[in-house]
Amino acid sequence: MKQLLIVWHSRTGAAQAMAQAAALGAGDEAGVAVRLVKAESAGPEDLLAADGYIFAAPENLAALSGEMKAFLDRSYYPVLERLNGRPYAALIAAGSDGTGAARQLARIATGWRLRAIAEPIVVCTHAQSPEAILGQKHLSDAELRACAELGAAMAAGLAMGVF
Ligand SMILES: Cc1cc2nc3c(=O)[nH]c(=O)nc-3n(C[C@H](O)[C@H](O)[C@H](O)COP(=O)(O)O)c2cc1C
Repeated sequence: MKQLLIVWHSRTGAAQAMAQAAALGAGDEAGVAVRLVKAESAGPEDLLAADGYIFAAPENLAALSGEMKAFLDRSYYPVLERLNGRPYAALIAAGSDGTGAARQLARIATGWRLRAIAEPIVVCTHAQSPEAILGQKHLSDAELRACAELGAAMAAGLAMGVF
C-alpha cells in the first residue's frame, strides 16, 4: 500500500478546502492510502512514512504561512537525504499573488530532492479589505476540481509506480 501525505495549514478555509479536494480526488485510487494532516500536528515521521506529498498553505506576507513554515523548519534536517526523489505537489491559497509562497516551497522541496509532479496550483481569493481577508473563504467548483484532479493524478502515479 502506497501512502499519500497531504499536509495543510489554513487560516480562513481556502487552503483547507484545496487540501480536502485533493484528498477526495486521491481517495478513489486503489492501493493508495491518503493521510490529511494539519501542519501543526505534522512532523518528520509523517514525511518518512509517506511515498508522496501534497503541501497546501496560504501565502501570508509574501511567504508560506508561519504554521506551514514551522512544520517545514522542524522537519527539514531530520529527513534531509531521506526523501530523495519522492514526488510532491503544491497548493497555494492567496489573495492576489501566491508566487512568494510557491517559490519558497519549491526551494525547500529542492533541498529535500523532491520531484514536482506538476506546477503549483495557486488560487487567488481576491479579498482586499481587512474584513474580507479575515473572512471565511469559499472556492469555486472549478478551483476545487483542479485540486481534486491533482490529487487523483498523484494517487494514480503512486499506485502505478511511475514516480
Ligand atoms: C496576515 C495575512 C497576510 C497575507 N499576505 C498575503 C500575501 O502576501 N499575498 C497574497 O496574495 N495574499 C495574502 N493574504 C491573503 C491570503 O493569502 C488569502 O486570504 C488566502 O485565501 C488565505 O488562505 P486560507 O483561507 O487558507 O487561510 C494574506 C492574508 C493574511 C491573513
